Amino acid sequence: MVKTVVLAAGSGSRLKSDKVKVLHRIFDKPILSWVLESLSEVESEDIIVVCGHQAEEVKSFLHAYPVSTVIQEEQLGTGHALMCVREQLQGYEGTVLVINGDSPLIRAETLNDMIKFHQDNIVDISFLSCHLNHPDGYGRVIRKDNRILAIKEDKDCSEAERQIKEVNAGVYCFEWSTVEEGLNKLKNDNAQEEYYLTDIIGWADSQGHEISACDLKNPYEVLGVNTREDLSLVWKLKNEATLHDLMQNGVTIVDPASTFISSDADIGEDTIILPNTYIQRRVVIGKGCNIGPNTSIYGPAEIGENSQVIQSHISRSSIGANAMIGPFAHIRDGSDINDNVRIGNFVEIKNSAIGDNCAAAHLSYIGDAQLKNNVNVGAGTIIANYDHRTGEKYETVINARVSTGANSVLIAPIKIGERSIVAAGSVVTKDVPEDTLAIARPKQEHKRNKQLTK
Ligand code: UD1
Ligand code: CA
Repeated sequence: MVKTVVLAAGSGSRLKSDKVKVLHRIFDKPILSWVLESLSEVESEDIIVVCGHQAEEVKSFLHAYPVSTVIQEEQLGTGHALMCVREQLQGYEGTVLVINGDSPLIRAETLNDMIKFHQDNIVDISFLSCHLNHPDGYGRVIRKDNRILAIKEDKDCSEAERQIKEVNAGVYCFEWSTVEEGLNKLKNDNAQEEYYLTDIIGWADSQGHEISACDLKNPYEVLGVNTREDLSLVWKLKNEATLHDLMQNGVTIVDPASTFISSDADIGEDTIILPNTYIQRRVVIGKGCNIGPNTSIYGPAEIGENSQVIQSHISRSSIGANAMIGPFAHIRDGSDINDNVRIGNFVEIKNSAIGDNCAAAHLSYIGDAQLKNNVNVGAGTIIANYDHRTGEKYETVINARVSTGANSVLIAPIKIGERSIVAAGSVVTKDVPEDTLAIARPKQEHKRNKQLTK
């Protein structure tokens, strides 16, 4: 068991953003959330997150997590950030796991291995290191005859030190009683005028404390997000890992380079994902579906087996089995579409329940409506659900086996009885009983033009 400290107070100036770094998103989750997700699989008595820049925003994001927070009023460096938890850890005799809050690729397994490594080796300090072909920007591990002497920040390195490929990943295990003393000794006489946490290593060596580095095999895990390019690379790597797992589980991804799927998606075997498809946030897709090309699905959303979604956008909705959606359908929040339904081109559906075997194949708007089974919505049918003056929205119920004619407008609130027909071009303002033909349009008249027949 350890106690954990996450360093998340920095602004992230290299991102050039109004938003604090750790709240920048990878798919729909902030960087910090990916770190906390890995930490949730580590046995930790406490997780303390050090916040500072935009602390209120970070704290309100953290409400959903079992963590406490500490404020670093001025961001004077990573060493100073750790000083801010002294009160919380006063008298603590055990191991503290410290992790940079901007490292979203670190896996739980790596953290657990590292803690085991630290505790098995009975050392005072250990940290995660890694060999990178392009170590620019990272702190370098300075060794002499294999003994670790210090970590030196990129900006403070000599040309020769910059050639060192072994870097600090920004994850540490500290025996707190040892390190607490070292924190008091940190100075900020360096290129960035900051109190570097990494200077603890040099101090510990000078005091004869035991230090060891746990070598990380997968170099991607160390990636800290400092720039927009790092952010884009993390997106790509997270995505590649997800697509790999999906393909292993029997999903065809035609073009991984243009397909983005968040890791919480659940997609059934023999589903084919066509190019330019973007799937984010708890989307469950059944077996044998065809999704894409040019499709975006924002969950929570569900799509039943053997359905097709072509060139369409779906958000927070569910779609049954054997459905055909698109091309160019827009399924908005709160839509619940059943089995064997066809939603065709330029059809928009919002907050509506659509029963089995319904069809709305062309050019319609269906909002705040319930369609029972076997309804046919004619081309160009519009449900007028919204009163622009009051901002109120009204409900529509269309009972089973109704068909609405082309270009009809149903003014909500309204109910159409079972098996009724709305004539093409009607503007329906009153409820229609069952088994009825509703015609609400001027009668066609023929007036002879005498001039023409002369
Ligand atoms: C840090 C390490 C570097 C390592 C790299 C790995 C130091 C001095 N350097 O560099 O050796 O190779 O991580 O990714 O630690 N933070 C605070 N308070 C502050 C400053 C930073 O909480 O006053 C937080 C940041 O929000 C961030 C983390 O600490 O989550 C790391 O800070 P950052 O400025 O990104 O350090 P690097 O320069 O990447
Ligand atoms: Ca960083």
